[in-house]
Amino acid sequence: MRVVILTCYPEMFPGSLGHSIIGNALENKKFSLEIINLHNFGIDKRGSVDDEPFGGGPGMVIRPDVIEKALNSIILKTHNFCKIFLTPSGQQLSQTKLNNLSKYDEMVILCGRFEGVDQRAIEILSFQEISIGDYVLSGGEIAAQVLVEGCIRLIPGVLGHPQSLLEESFSNNLLEYPHYTRPKNWEDTQGNKHEVPNVLTSGHHEKIGRWRKDKAIEKTKNLRPDLLKKGLNDE
Ligand code: ADE
Repeated sequence: MRVVILTCYPEMFPGSLGHSIIGNALENKKFSLEIINLHNFGIDKRGSVDDEPFGGGPGMVIRPDVIEKALNSIILKTHNFCKIFLTPSGQQLSQTKLNNLSKYDEMVILCGRFEGVDQRAIEILSFQEISIGDYVLSGGEIAAQVLVEGCIRLIPGVLGHPQSLLEESFSNNLLEYPHYTRPKNWEDTQGNKHEVPNVLTSGHHEKIGRWRKDKAIEKTKNLRPDLLKKGLNDE
């Protein structure tokens, strides 16, 4: 996948995308990352990209002509691309949405800053608006990293253990079951002893599978009953 980011803060990239599994995927060319500085398409020598909102109000709005020029500088190589504008007023990101987005060959992501982006640019240049959650960040750069990380790890060959994709939270509308590792009997610094559930060390795979499913349902009931209402297998 080719990822192109339009941002006023290019130095915020690759950020988290340069580390761990996604950093390896970048190094191994499982995806490419191009960062375009919107200031290079600014309207004056200072590279201004924004102006006051018509109708008054606080903050500044990124101009549509600046976004159009930046977008026109990208030569898309396929027809299988998407254009995303990250904004708290977009459609909320979900695992299902990430699954769908991960199938594109090219992804252009516009990061908002200031008060927002001129609505004409979003509509005329056909950006889909996506939010990473019901809270407000100072800009779309961190949100872009969340979205890209979520997509790239779904690309075949990026994760060392593809089985984990089938078992992790939100597959089947369930949160993931709890995990345990050594020591089997952990004595904390207060002297209290905590044992790993017996079934996990029984070697009985069928029982372990059943226990994990029960725990996943119990955890989902407690923390995210809304997911259970959607039903198993129903995305
Ligand atoms: N920019 C600021 N807040 C955001 C959010 N919650 N999601 C996506 N982009 C954002």
